[in-house]
Amino acid sequence: MTISLAELKESADYIKKKWPMLDAMAPKTAIVLGSGLSGCTEQLKSASIAAIPFTTIPHFCSSTVVGHKGELILSLVDNKYPVLIMSGRLHFYEGLDPHQVIAPIRVLNLLGCKTAILTNASGAIGDNFEPGQFMVVKDHINLTGHSPLVGKNLDELGPRFVDMTQAYDKKLINLAKQKAQEINATMHEGVYVGLLGPCYETPAEIRMLKLLGADAVGMSTVFEVIAARHMSMRVLTIACLTNKAAGLSSGTISHDEVMHNNALLAQKLGQLLKNIVGALD
Ligand code: HPA
Repeated sequence: MTISLAELKESADYIKKKWPMLDAMAPKTAIVLGSGLSGCTEQLKSASIAAIPFTTIPHFCSSTVVGHKGELILSLVDNKYPVLIMSGRLHFYEGLDPHQVIAPIRVLNLLGCKTAILTNASGAIGDNFEPGQFMVVKDHINLTGHSPLVGKNLDELGPRFVDMTQAYDKKLINLAKQKAQEINATMHEGVYVGLLGPCYETPAEIRMLKLLGADAVGMSTVFEVIAARHMSMRVLTIACLTNKAAGLSSGTISHDEVMHNNALLAQKLGQLLKNIVGALD
């Protein structure tokens, strides 16, 4: 199932109609909040906040995952910096078509966003990477077995063949590291591997991923990054490490644990994102 440019424009027009102030506010930054991270909207929102549930936006799918709120938020961070926030995201493992997964990021770009800040919950693979810490993504390995750019290329959005050499913006990586240091948050830098899910990995798979160069593992993000780069958006991705990846601790992994640890991290992430947004050029 593909989503045409006309349909994406329909979604954008619906949002513009709902929010007449959008034109004047002109947000250039989009933030995507992963599982259990919607708590950090508290630090990102202000008096001028407005929200639209995904379900009411044409051609948007609603998230079926527990812990994903599923709304688009317009916010003025620190009463100064306009941002569009996707509180909750869509995943390939929900049975959606990759085009449905990336429709929101495409619409955010049509609405004028040139920078995408993506967040997610990840399992920690790297040595000394611990739950409760962050990892800024410097590169990724897409092991979902799919690409959201398969099918007819939307030439108006970007080229058929997309360069991924510098998918993650170096300046934004450095900014994220600096802002993390300022709030005493541990921020690693590493490679994110995106898998289909929805089961967590086996210990053997994690050993393989480590050999391949992965530092953190998750079930999201890579499609959005590919779509964002297709549209030449600047990308920053911050992984919230919620658990040791399978086999790297004595315990097992559960969605409840992931959600719980992310809720604990959400506060710090909110502060971090606020400081990053305030320093963007
Ligand atoms: N594996 C895959 N996805 C995840 C994990 C994990 O260990 N933790 C949070 N999301």
